[in-house]
Amino acid sequence: MLRETVRQLHRELIETGLEGLHRISIALVDEAYLRTYVDSTEGIQPLKHHSIPLEKSPSLSALVRQKKTRIVDDYSSYLRQCRGKASAWLRESQLHSSYTIPIFFQNNFLGFIFFNSCNKAFFNPLTVATLDDTVKSLRESIIHERTLFDNIVSLSKFSEKASEIRDECTAMHCGRLTTLTRIIARHVVQHCPVTDREVYYLIKFSPLHDIGKIGVADDILLKPGRLTAEEFREMKRHVEYGMTMVDAACDGVVKQHEAYRIIRTLISEHHEMLDGSGYPEGLKGEEISLFSRIVTVSDIFDALTSDRPYKKAWTLEQALTELQAMADHGKLDPLCVEALQQYFDQPDAQQRFTLFREEARMCA
Ligand SMILES: [Fe+2]
Ligand SMILES: [Fe+2]
Repeated sequence: MLRETVRQLHRELIETGLEGLHRISIALVDEAYLRTYVDSTEGIQPLKHHSIPLEKSPSLSALVRQKKTRIVDDYSSYLRQCRGKASAWLRESQLHSSYTIPIFFQNNFLGFIFFNSCNKAFFNPLTVATLDDTVKSLRESIIHERTLFDNIVSLSKFSEKASEIRDECTAMHCGRLTTLTRIIARHVVQHCPVTDREVYYLIKFSPLHDIGKIGVADDILLKPGRLTAEEFREMKRHVEYGMTMVDAACDGVVKQHEAYRIIRTLISEHHEMLDGSGYPEGLKGEEISLFSRIVTVSDIFDALTSDRPYKKAWTLEQALTELQAMADHGKLDPLCVEALQQYFDQPDAQQRFTLFREEARMCA
């Protein structure tokens, strides 16, 4: 929604004479991180997969503290001393001038609107006045977006707490799953056309994939042994329960939010296999979204490397070999498996894996 608004406004501004406006972008803050949220860059490779702790940018932090806008007429001298991905990208993109506006709602800082131009000193008083209505519209859209998003975050926090109270193991599994999902997503985004926003939602909301386990009876969910066929059938219904819960918790407006669609996809598809042998729908290949494939690999890796009442945790090598075999047999996405292979191929990987496994053992 916000993305369409930004693109539409950008097109209108160009049509009404601001041809030199080459970029409008919005970065929103969440948990002290500033993340590129929307970018309508015209004719320039956009800045992708960028997020920084706000405090790491003294100049932007100062704008928030002082509640001030900023105009830079010529970045070339300004950026000479700056390092970091965003500065390097600005240098390469030849974006010479900028107009930056911090956005607040009820005294809370929400994020920034950035206008950029390849022309030096583009943002003169007349241009800034022309952008006034655009800034107002974008501010309203950002507030609307934030309100919807906060509703979804509340649902996520509620479900996290409910899982923790019900069954600590599920809650800890969800925590590890976030880390694994982040590792895989970082690798996959280098090869697939996914947006920063999608990756952010995927990581943030991946713990919701098993929300439906709240609906599974104790004697099945907490059974200290293998499930019978009938019990397993009931356990599988956590997918259906999860979708019912999320649908009931989100109203019509929230359901239009991209994050809601990603959450629903994760819940409904996280047990599907590429060869059609998964559940509940037996989806195949491209029918399963990339986000779900990432979560599925995270999910299986965590299950294999965790102790269960009926099995010991597998070693890192055993788990990676099994994932590779499943990818070779067409069940798992090879790119997602490759992500974990590469991650655990680093010198300190065994140490990182041990930390993971100790956490997993605490539930056994
Ligand atoms: Fe599940
Ligand atoms: Fe799971």
